[in-house]
Amino acid sequence: MPEEKNNSGVCASVIDAIGYAPVVDLSRLAANFEGRILAKLEYLNPGGSKKDLISRAIIDSAEQKGLLKPGQTVLELTSGNTGNGLAMICAVRGYPFIAVMSRGNTPERAAMMRGMGATVVLVDLDNPSQGITAEDMKRVEDTAASLTEKHNAFRADQFNRQENAEAHYQHTGPEWIRQTDGNIDAFCDFVGTGGGFAGVARALKEHNPAIQCFVVEPDGAAKLAGQCISCCAHVIQGGGYAKELVLLNRDHVDGHLTVKDEDVAEITRRLASEEGIFAGYSSGANVSAAIQLLQGEFKGKTIAVTICDSGLKYLSTDLWRDGAED
Ligand SMILES: Cc1ncc(COP(=O)(O)O)c(C=O)c1O
Repeated sequence: MPEEKNNSGVCASVIDAIGYAPVVDLSRLAANFEGRILAKLEYLNPGGSKKDLISRAIIDSAEQKGLLKPGQTVLELTSGNTGNGLAMICAVRGYPFIAVMSRGNTPERAAMMRGMGATVVLVDLDNPSQGITAEDMKRVEDTAASLTEKHNAFRADQFNRQENAEAHYQHTGPEWIRQTDGNIDAFCDFVGTGGGFAGVARALKEHNPAIQCFVVEPDGAAKLAGQCISCCAHVIQGGGYAKELVLLNRDHVDGHLTVKDEDVAEITRRLASEEGIFAGYSSGANVSAAIQLLQGEFKGKTIAVTICDSGLKYLSTDLWRDGAED
């Protein structure tokens, strides 16, 4: 079990300010349902997302294993949030950092990374109206691979490194158990790399095997649910890539939920206007999925969800457009 955060002390750097996000009962938003939705506010991390934790874990491990040498370039393919976390850590520890990102993600993330000294390489979309497709992701991957070679860089490789899931198993999961006294009936999580789901589900199930864990995917791109993929275009940045996930342990998946863009946008706005939680689309996806559970077999139960990143990373999208309606 990780130590409690010591708020009375001074952090040696911002890296020590990562983690221990509070859990909030969304009792206003869930007022019309029987049951509770508990939300862990990972957007309060210094880099503004749940990905700070895995960024630290990957760099710490690479340093310990000698995979990352002093002054060596770090490189990552990112939707922006892991890039924000890595840029922050690399700024503190003195590593040059290159982020390779699809233009399908918001410029706010790129601006943050550049502000923290990173080089951001943006890869164009084939057809922006279709969102980020598998072909787009392949081009981003090819760019990341060739730049890794060119710069002799350490590739953080969040989709494949066990440190990603392990960080959530060591920290996020035990924090959930401590903060709720283990009083959770279900956990649902929108998956990008699947590291968050994998680590938290493992910790929760080890604590109490009866806790049910659900993978959340966008409607039309629910590959893990075995659905026919009709369209990869969706508003939920940071995941929903419709691909198999190396880090995901299928034994811990009790079920699949899909969410529609319009519901996700509405719930993300209600999170802000009713709960004062200014978050991004994937947080709305998680809460939207939790509502589905409360409306079904989990009526009267307690659902745990992650508030993944800050709404400030979406100011350029339609999410916060004045009087936005979908
Ligand atoms: C905003 C946002 N939500 C959700 C996720 C998915 O998290 P995970 O990679 O742990 O599945 C990510 C991952 O980058 C993200 O950036």
